[in-house]
Amino acid sequence: MEPLHFFVNGRRVTEKNVDPEMMLLPFLRRNLRLTGTKYGCGGGGCGACTVMISRYDHSARRVRHYPASACLTPVCSLHGAAVTTVEGVGSTRTRLHPVQERIAKSHGTQCGFCTPGMVMSLYTLLRNYPQPSEEQLLAALAGNLCRCTGYRPILDAGRTFCKTSGCCQSKENEVCCLDQGVNRLPEPKEGGQMSPKLFSEEEFLPLDPTQELIFPPELMILAEKQPRTPRVFTGDRMTWISPVTLEGLLEAKSKFPHAPLVMGNTSVGPEMKFKGVFHPVIISPDGIEELSVIKHACNGLTLGAGLSLAQMQDVLADVVQWLPEEKTQTFHALLKQLRTLAGSQIRNMASLGGHILSRHPDSDLNPLLAAGSCTLCVLSKEGERQIPLDEHFLSRSPSADLKPQEVLLSMTVPYSRKWEFVSAFRQAQRRENAQAIVNAGMRVFFGEGDGVITELSILYGNVGPAAICARDACRKLVGRSWSEETLDEACRLVLGEVTIPGSAPGGRVEFRRTLLVSFLFRFYLQVSQGLSHMDPGRYPSLVGKYESALEDLHPEHRHGRGTFRYQNTDPKQLPQDPIGRPVMHLSGVKHATGEAVYCDDMPAVDQELFLTFVTSSRAHAAIVSMDLSEALSLPGVVDIVTSKHLGDVNSFSTETLLATDKVLCVGHLVCAIIADSEVQAKQAAEKVRIVYKDLEPLILTVEEAVQHKSFFEGERKLECGDVEEAFKTVDQVLEGEVHMGGQEHFYMETQSMLAIPKAEDQEMDIYVSTQFPKYIQDIVASTLKLPANKVMCHVRRVGGAFGGKVIKTSIMAAITAFAAHKHGRAVRCVLERGEDMLITGGRHPYLGKYKVGFMNDGRIVALDMEHYNNGGNSLDESLFVLEMGLLKMENAYKFPHLRCRGRACRTNLPSNTALRGFGFPQAGFVTESCIEEVAAKCGLSPEEVREVNMYKGTKQTPYGQEINTEGLAQCWRECKAQASFSLRRAAVERFNAGSAWKKRGLAMVPLKFPVGVGSVAMGQASALVHVYLDGSVLVTHGGIEMGQGVHTKMIQVVSRELKMPMANVHLRGTSTETVPNANASGGSVVADLNGLAVKDACQTLLKRLEPIISKNPQGAWKDWAQAAFDGSISLSAIGYFRGYESNIDWEKGQGHPFEYCVYGAACSEVEIDCLTGNHKNIRTDIVMDVGHSINPALDRGQVEGAFIQGMGLYTSEELKYSPRGSLHTRGPDQYKIPGVCDIPTELHISFLPPSENSNTLYSSKGLGESGIFLGCSVLFAIRDAVRASRQERCLPGTVALSSPLTPEKIRMACEDRFTKMIPRDIPGSCVPWDVLV
Ligand SMILES: Cc1cc2nc3c(=O)[nH]c(=O)nc-3n(C[C@H](O)[C@H](O)[C@H](O)COP(=O)(O)OP(=O)(O)OC[C@H]3O[C@@H](n4cnc5c(N)ncnc54)[C@H](O)[C@@H]3O)c2cc1C
Ligand code: FES
Ligand code: FES
Repeated sequence: MEPLHFFVNGRRVTEKNVDPEMMLLPFLRRNLRLTGTKYGCGGGGCGACTVMISRYDHSARRVRHYPASACLTPVCSLHGAAVTTVEGVGSTRTRLHPVQERIAKSHGTQCGFCTPGMVMSLYTLLRNYPQPSEEQLLAALAGNLCRCTGYRPILDAGRTFCKTSGCCQSKENEVCCLDQGVNRLPEPKEGGQMSPKLFSEEEFLPLDPTQELIFPPELMILAEKQPRTPRVFTGDRMTWISPVTLEGLLEAKSKFPHAPLVMGNTSVGPEMKFKGVFHPVIISPDGIEELSVIKHACNGLTLGAGLSLAQMQDVLADVVQWLPEEKTQTFHALLKQLRTLAGSQIRNMASLGGHILSRHPDSDLNPLLAAGSCTLCVLSKEGERQIPLDEHFLSRSPSADLKPQEVLLSMTVPYSRKWEFVSAFRQAQRRENAQAIVNAGMRVFFGEGDGVITELSILYGNVGPAAICARDACRKLVGRSWSEETLDEACRLVLGEVTIPGSAPGGRVEFRRTLLVSFLFRFYLQVSQGLSHMDPGRYPSLVGKYESALEDLHPEHRHGRGTFRYQNTDPKQLPQDPIGRPVMHLSGVKHATGEAVYCDDMPAVDQELFLTFVTSSRAHAAIVSMDLSEALSLPGVVDIVTSKHLGDVNSFSTETLLATDKVLCVGHLVCAIIADSEVQAKQAAEKVRIVYKDLEPLILTVEEAVQHKSFFEGERKLECGDVEEAFKTVDQVLEGEVHMGGQEHFYMETQSMLAIPKAEDQEMDIYVSTQFPKYIQDIVASTLKLPANKVMCHVRRVGGAFGGKVIKTSIMAAITAFAAHKHGRAVRCVLERGEDMLITGGRHPYLGKYKVGFMNDGRIVALDMEHYNNGGNSLDESLFVLEMGLLKMENAYKFPHLRCRGRACRTNLPSNTALRGFGFPQAGFVTESCIEEVAAKCGLSPEEVREVNMYKGTKQTPYGQEINTEGLAQCWRECKAQASFSLRRAAVERFNAGSAWKKRGLAMVPLKFPVGVGSVAMGQASALVHVYLDGSVLVTHGGIEMGQGVHTKMIQVVSRELKMPMANVHLRGTSTETVPNANASGGSVVADLNGLAVKDACQTLLKRLEPIISKNPQGAWKDWAQAAFDGSISLSAIGYFRGYESNIDWEKGQGHPFEYCVYGAACSEVEIDCLTGNHKNIRTDIVMDVGHSINPALDRGQVEGAFIQGMGLYTSEELKYSPRGSLHTRGPDQYKIPGVCDIPTELHISFLPPSENSNTLYSSKGLGESGIFLGCSVLFAIRDAVRASRQERCLPGTVALSSPLTPEKIRMACEDRFTKMIPRDIPGSCVPWDVLV
């Protein structure tokens, strides 16, 4: 039998006994120790594991390069392929590839965890198109997620390779499109001196395609070799058969009729991984030419079942160029669906046959293929036959399906005919790379062109377990003319036939019902327009009011462009002084080459074990019994740790480590399996049998918590003025409430840790991806009953954290260390994405209630608020989050009489925790929602009401701290001017007047973000600076590098203070061994506080060395260090900062909790599609007061990245819980963080000129968190657009629009005749799929 041969980065790999269950990702990471390729989700949804696969097509005699997700690529499928990983592209040791260089130098990396995947997507693109178009660039990155950067800098890097700079070549009014603003309004004025560029393209290495790795000639010979022999691999549980001829395939299928035919493995793979499906035998055809046919016959186009979706896309794109338009209706519709189907990686892996036969209910192609009357050619040893791809086939009706021993050979798509129209529709939570909420394929044929329906076919996807055909409706409509009356009748019939029950899986039931008819309406319009084009005399053109309903929102050619204005450094500043300069992230290049080491990239330690958790499947239940025997008996299982083993160390502070006698949420940690390998640990976890008895009450929502008075600690309250009296003096009073959903951190690197017990003195080293090493040290020491000096926690870098790597991480680290300690062996624990999302909680869902008294001119005189956050089942940081929310709730406004009370609710959800912004994004949103309501009541614009209530000059906050708000007014003014607010407001109104179905909205929000950590002690920081005798410097501090660039800034500080080049200074990571008792990294202050400590250490050193330096001022650090050593002067210094003044007395509601405020303003403009709920952010302008920026490139990255994360929070990221408290959204497939398609078409950011801030590091301000809130400008712009739609339809202007403002909410708020015609469920008549928590 032939072994498996393939190449990785030019090196041959031969495997005789490969395990068929092994995917390429673990093979690369563990077997080949190529850890540049990252795990982000394991299901093809994030792009972190992207590699390039190259295959030689011997019939075409050319090599095909394509991007692929290593997590779904079985190693057995790689015979004859060449795999290129990020390590094969370039390295710091050999040569950097231009892609790697440009992504790093364009500041396209922060935490760097997504970067290797980004590099590989770009690299593959360039291998195929050395000068890609902008559209190709966007398509190449659509399957890669980044949680930090906001994508724009990555696109900037990619654009440097593009053919044109994105100009559409149509020079309207003699002006290049790139110089025209949105709505043909001028670009923002640059005002004053231009900022220097953040990077210089001239420095970049040129792309030289001749330098790329060649395809191994050996593999070409292998591909040419005839006859080839089949391969069989047998593992512990599974056999893999790779036939190489059609006869061999049919033979294998007849022998193993129930074995799946694995092509791209993008359907079988996720099923096996996430749904527990198991196949003992897999058949995977290899290079069978008959499966790749492309044939034009007289009746249509035949496509082989083995073609990938990307190949199909290429074929169709070519065919539509030369076939007459009337023949290509179905092809065009297919191309439209393919453009947004998954990302490029999946489209390149997935096969047409695999797609059709998976029959996913949400398949984008199947409803269309069925509507288009496609036929399937199937084959078995008995012979060939044709079957129609229709609804019976799609519902797997046995009489219409393939027989088990049959394979799909090809599919024929008929050419469309004259007077035939075919369309496809889809709506998803995100515009690209997101499965459809509903999709549809529709076809109508008018026979003789007399406008009478001869054939009609309408199919919908994701409205039931299989695609559904509205067959009866279609039959009844045949013979009718194409008119509005027919449309109404069609809607009625479709809604009667395609029913979606109130409890349907996937929820969003009313939205889905509305989409059924909304799509029908769009089809009606498209066909009407088509008829009119063909025979304008007979079919009048569409009247203006409908035109805007015809198309989806258009993709723009200027996507993700923007400007950045920042402060120039003082001309007097020394050129070598890096403070204030856009220095690249110090790890940027290592991120791009895959050399940056994250926790799980650390090599396995001898005899290392793996730990996995068993979590509760019930939200509130007693554990009646737990049977571990079967799990313990499995091979490789070493131990199972339960709360009994932990005994009296099962709790730390307010948190419990493992559940004892009851569970309090789905995802509660119950026990931990320790096994020789990850696979064995996971298999054993499946075998733990737990019997539960449900307990009452089950509290999931804030409302239920209030009803049961289920709170953590007492109420928190802030009050100023006399609220009751003030209410008596106002013109109007209104009461309202607004709900805001939670948010998942979605750091790209999941929770990871490695505990290594030392042979001596019971010491423990623990390597963790955490923001708080000291806390890990404390909890581990407590759990192991050791003094803290025996436990050391080390962190090199963290692949994104955003607040989610503190409390939960430490609990898991304690259990991992306990296991390591108990067995005297290293233990690794790395969560899968689904486990991570389930266990670790996220941002608190929030309910804000308000009663507001105001004057008719918009002045708010009295405000009485109640805040409730949903804390989940344990305290974690819920109270602190609530307090911070209260202290920041007034945002930018001075409310003279204010009372705000807050409670943290205890519920049966996973415990919620810190997330960037820490309560402010929710509290500020409640206040802004209230402002919007007041504006609506007063008949004023929200911006007018914002202005009239805004802080002016020096004022006192509700807790009595005096603040100077000059920067706020300046940001607001500048933002208004930069955004040309008034002109654009008029343009938006003009647009809306002429567009009934697409509306634009514009909104501007101010920002006051107070910075501080709550107490002086929590702000203390230390640093350690060593000078070595060669003059090099090692700096260490207590801050964690999690993408924000704190290490880069610290080296900038050393460089300025010691007046030495940055290259002379090194930083290895953070450890409790070097800097003890460091506070958590978070709260925007990591660089602030640690920088002051680093500066202090440097100044101590300088003071000590001053006599030596002044004696030899021309000397170098090497000379001074040697002289100091010779003079017995210490070359190490500790730096210390005691923390900002900070206090708050909750009894009195008074204090000085914050050191300073970050001010800002953002203006966003969006366009919405009223018919589907889609939206597009057209342009955002942000102005920030950042003090003196230490590094404008990093600071821009923080503002921009946070803004995009905020946009996700307020518009697309939606956590869904079942009525029994189980999280439905456990991966990127269900939970949609912003993708590259979501970023604003234009994003303009300006920093105000430097402002002085005497107490902070070089007058800088911490910017990590504040930008999140500015994302709500997008929500309010959408709300403005919805208002315009409602006004036009004479509906009341305001509807309660909670956050996130998703396509569902947008569509349902844009009420029209279609939303009115859908059936509604009587509340309580069914159990919904999800509940609002
Ligand atoms: C991250 C991600 C995002 C996605 N997004 C979308 C999306 O937006 N829209 C959408 O529509 N889909 C989406 N999909 C689904 C995707 O389109 C399908 O998974 C894919 O098309 C299946 O093709 P495959 O070759 O990988 O199938 P495989 O997993 O290899 O096989 C699937 C099934 O098809 C059978 N099969 C395959 N070929 C044959 C044959 N020739 N004869 C008989 N049986 C055969 C196999 O037996 C198996 O049961 C997504 C998938 C992933 C992983
Ligand atoms: S890890 Fe493979 S796509 Fe996410
Ligand atoms: S830099 Fe992209 S995920 Fe962090």
